[in-house]
Amino acid sequence: MSKQKQKVIFSGAQPTGSLTLGNYIGAIQSWKDLENEFECYYSIVDLHSLTIRHDPKKFRKACLSFLAQYLACGLDPEKNTLFYQSHVKQHTELNWILGCMTYMGELNRMTQFKEKAEKHKDNINAGLYTYPVLQVADILLYQADLVPVGEDQRQHIELTRDVAIRFNNTYGEVFTLPDIYVPKIGAKIMSLQDPESKMSKSDENVNGTIFLLDSDKDIVKKVKRSVTDSENRVAYRDEQPGVKNLLTIYSKLSDYSIEELVEKYASKGYGALKTDLAELLVETIRPIREKHNEYMDNLDYLASIYKKGAEKASIVAERTMTKVRESIGLV
Ligand code: TYM
Repeated sequence: MSKQKQKVIFSGAQPTGSLTLGNYIGAIQSWKDLENEFECYYSIVDLHSLTIRHDPKKFRKACLSFLAQYLACGLDPEKNTLFYQSHVKQHTELNWILGCMTYMGELNRMTQFKEKAEKHKDNINAGLYTYPVLQVADILLYQADLVPVGEDQRQHIELTRDVAIRFNNTYGEVFTLPDIYVPKIGAKIMSLQDPESKMSKSDENVNGTIFLLDSDKDIVKKVKRSVTDSENRVAYRDEQPGVKNLLTIYSKLSDYSIEELVEKYASKGYGALKTDLAELLVETIRPIREKHNEYMDNLDYLASIYKKGAEKASIVAERTMTKVRESIGLV
């Protein structure tokens, strides 16, 4: 009996700075959970990072460090295809073709573009604007069934479906329509300094973001200083976004449900919650940081992983591109 075709997953992160606790909870925990059931392609989307000007030496190091962080988070290179987007040339080829299938009206509506344009007023480049098209190409190239991401990527995944439907209706059934996968809780981890906004790699206030490479001391400091409220009542509700965020993080990194945590800390208050959460974070992040450092000392090993990843990804990508080129009539 032939083996049923395994469903496919594609996802990725931009190698800007280093991974945050938001990336870890919103995306990487799901990637790891799904690695046994699906054929998974997890990319370091280095071309997407080029929309912001950077120092090439630091960028190169960040790209390598991201692969080391993926591995340190436990992604198994035997089970998953780990690779750099720029090593698989078909991403940029499909990007152009799908750019011709995407309306400016659609790109104008992208909230991430609006936010980024607001933040980088001196460099609102065309890449920033067409960024979502490259993301659409990333996903469709692998005929992904599922895309595990945080809540902030929802609009980009919806665009991916719209473009795939338009292409299929125009040139024939070429692309699989992907579904979004977001974790039930933790799909949007908030800044520790401003719990109304998302925890982000590029937040100017570094105290709002926990990075997977932060020292123990920094982690404790950031948690202790995190913004809560003056109610001094541990509850999981929208009116107390700071405490809600701490409970979410705690629950995602432990075996406690939110309800159990609320009960555990009801009579203890914010101080105890922060102390225990800081300890839990230190114990979670320290092994990741240490493993990351070991991988960074073994660049040959990293190279063997990303070369193997690019080879495998290229085969699948080329299979899709052959269909795409034929379907649109390129000679
Ligand atoms: P990026 O690099 O900003 O983030 C990587 C992943 O982490 C999730 N995430 C969060 N989840 C919860 N809380 C947060 N505070 C938080 N911050 C980030 C993101 O939702 C994402 O899943 N455009 C994408 C990269 C990309 C991509 C793709 C993703 C390019 N092509 C194709 C999926 C499929 C991005 O900038 O992610």
